[in-house]
Amino acid sequence: MKALVLKDDVDRRLALEELATPVPGPGQVLLAMRGAALNRRDYYISIGQYAGIRYDTIQGSDGCGIIHTAAAGMAPELSEGSRVIVNPSHGWGDDERVQSQHYTILGMQQPGTLAEFLAVDGDRIHPAPAHLSDTEAAALPLAGLTAYRAVKTQGQAAQGQRVLVTGIGGGVAQMAFQFAAALGAAVWVSSGTNWKIERARAMGAAGGVNYHEQDWAEQLKAAGGFDLIVDSAGGDQINTLLRLLKPGGSLVFFGSTLGRPSWLDTHRIFWNQLRLQGSTMGSDRDFAAMLHLVNAHKIVPVIDSVRPFAEVLDAYEVLKHNSQFGKLVVTF
Ligand SMILES: NC(=O)c1ccc[n+]([C@@H]2O[C@H](COP(=O)([O-])OP(=O)(O)OC[C@H]3O[C@@H](n4cnc5c(N)ncnc54)[C@H](OP(=O)(O)O)[C@@H]3O)[C@@H](O)[C@H]2O)c1
Repeated sequence: MKALVLKDDVDRRLALEELATPVPGPGQVLLAMRGAALNRRDYYISIGQYAGIRYDTIQGSDGCGIIHTAAAGMAPELSEGSRVIVNPSHGWGDDERVQSQHYTILGMQQPGTLAEFLAVDGDRIHPAPAHLSDTEAAALPLAGLTAYRAVKTQGQAAQGQRVLVTGIGGGVAQMAFQFAAALGAAVWVSSGTNWKIERARAMGAAGGVNYHEQDWAEQLKAAGGFDLIVDSAGGDQINTLLRLLKPGGSLVFFGSTLGRPSWLDTHRIFWNQLRLQGSTMGSDRDFAAMLHLVNAHKIVPVIDSVRPFAEVLDAYEVLKHNSQFGKLVVTF
């Protein structure tokens, strides 16, 4: 089978290689992949900026496939020929509050989804939502899981709330926007690009600001305070976001694209009873609840572009330049 592999070679970190089709172990299923999607994580791995890098690992955390070989005792909806998506989380553990020390994500260290076949534990697969195409279903798992935990499990977004999702060009941000809206919140967005704000408005955003404009925070402040802000940019900007929260509000963050803040407005946090909550991917319960929300509201991940697998390196180039709106998907 063809697979995209991380190489210990500074001149060519990613290579499309011909590998033996994996043989599923006990309790595993073999999937014939139909689609796989990229995340920011894949780019970070490709430039060596990721913990626990193991060379010769097949890349990719997101995918949709058809069960080629089922495991014994699987439910009828997970039998040979069923169309499924893969939960990229492994080993979350029993504590819903936090992942265990054995937690890993598909694609590093386990072989990932950017291959024609994937052998994966049977308890990682779920029926693909029927309203989604193969490419849309492939785009859902990692971003959907991360966004669901940030917005609902941690952020407790609810009907009538005002929510701000920063960096709406991001794959997770777009799912967060859709989930918060489905839960009944009015959602504002930020972006560094005006056309991305317009796209978000067309999808139902209540408003949006360009974070390159000097008065972006004042523009948002004028629109009123927020009950919840979902952010992955981090940096010193966190202190500006704290000013935009209503007293009692929450800032949930799942990334730090801008790095660590050099200071933190602790005075504002305690006086206004604010909550700063970190969040990462999600538990198996989060994944099941995310799928329930997606099915109930017929939510569709935003797709930027779809390519044949042979052109997957072009998708990494798009990710590098951050010019996409929505997920980058490859088909097999
Ligand atoms: N902890 C986890 O489980 C987890 C899971 C997934 C992702 N992450 C992290 O979360 C971040 C986003 O991931 P992703 O996959 O959604 O990445 P992505 O699709 O590449 O999006 C990154 C986005 O960051 C936004 N951004 C850049 N500068 C910003 C600023 N000053 N203020 C607000 N937004 C800004 C950009 O939005 P615009 O294009 O709109 O300007 C960009 O689209 C990454 O750092 C990633 O590593 C963490």
